[in-house]
Amino acid sequence: MPKFPLDVLLKSVKSPILLIGEDQRISLQNPAATALLKMDFTGRNYINALRQPALLDAVDQAQLDGTQKTARFLVQTGNTDQTFEALVVPDNKQTLVILEDQSAEHDINSVRRDFVANVSHELRTPLTALLGFIETLQGPARNDPKAQERFLGIMAVEADRLRRLVDDLLSLSRVEETERSRPTNPVDLEEVIRQSTELLEPLAKTAKTHLQVVAPEQPMVVPGDAAQLQQVLHNLIENAIKYGATEAGITVAIHPPAYERSLQQECIRLTVEDQGSGIPERHLVRLTERFYRVDDHRDREMGGTGLGLAIVKHIMNRHRGRLLFDSTEGQGTTVSILLPTVIENLIRQSSIP
Ligand SMILES: Nc1ncnc2c1ncn2[C@@H]1O[C@H](COP(=O)(O)OP(=O)(O)O)[C@@H](O)[C@H]1O
Ligand SMILES: [Mg+2]
Repeated sequence: MPKFPLDVLLKSVKSPILLIGEDQRISLQNPAATALLKMDFTGRNYINALRQPALLDAVDQAQLDGTQKTARFLVQTGNTDQTFEALVVPDNKQTLVILEDQSAEHDINSVRRDFVANVSHELRTPLTALLGFIETLQGPARNDPKAQERFLGIMAVEADRLRRLVDDLLSLSRVEETERSRPTNPVDLEEVIRQSTELLEPLAKTAKTHLQVVAPEQPMVVPGDAAQLQQVLHNLIENAIKYGATEAGITVAIHPPAYERSLQQECIRLTVEDQGSGIPERHLVRLTERFYRVDDHRDREMGGTGLGLAIVKHIMNRHRGRLLFDSTEGQGTTVSILLPTVIENLIRQSSIP
């Protein structure tokens, strides 16, 4: 192959490109990447530059198994959102990251349209049921008190489903609104866990399982938003009860602060562990998508909206933390969240937001 200088090639390419060296530092960054990152990260650890969890995961995975990975993420700049697709190519000890701006192909309007279509569909299902039963109550069941009681019971369930859906939609939009401002109040995580487990104890009992909490002696405090972190824990524990209840119980644990490579800082890890049937691997990456359910029918029956983990993901983004799933079919699921113990420094804030 004819020799052509790599830097000339990289300079002329419009896509942002980064090369990560064996030492995990950025060894090459082309001008398009500098324009996107707003600074030159050459010589710095790549985690400083690529702050997007999806992208960091792709780099991690590519380096682990030596195969190409792709990741997609949104960058919010001012009032506009840009969609990027990253191609991560490991080669020996180096890793090439090519970012492609796909905003035009994947324009935000189409995402919104999909969302509205999904919401309408989700709202219509319980609404159709309600309308059907109202008609029956006004007609055939008019003089049948037994049928009336049964139908009213079903209507209450459907109305409750509607209410939960509206609650979750509002919650999602509120969380999205606050995502750009990082919360700073000190939050005692043991207290957050205690409140969530107290609230969910009755549900656990009904599901014939039990909750156990494992926490270190000393207080575990992170900068955060207590109400939102409680929402996270509530969601994760509720999922473990709904989808992973067994006699073995569910363990909620706080792990003492430790350096987390993926976030390049000290973090506290919280885990919610069940020994249920687990989640097949192909679903894991999609769990945080809005309305995504592993088993559409079963999960709907459980009363889930499919929005819980989407809300959790946004709250974790706001806390500059991470959400990780680890599941083995037939053995159970462990969901972890990582929360930084201190607010990051300025350099990290200037990377891909
Ligand atoms: N601990 C778990 N074990 C098995 N499946 C789970 C677990 N947690 C979540 N899931 C799956 O992930 C899907 C998405 O979860 P979530 O966003 O909270 O929605 P839902 O409102 O349905 O609970 C669930 O419908 C379920 O299929
Ligand atoms: Mg849920």
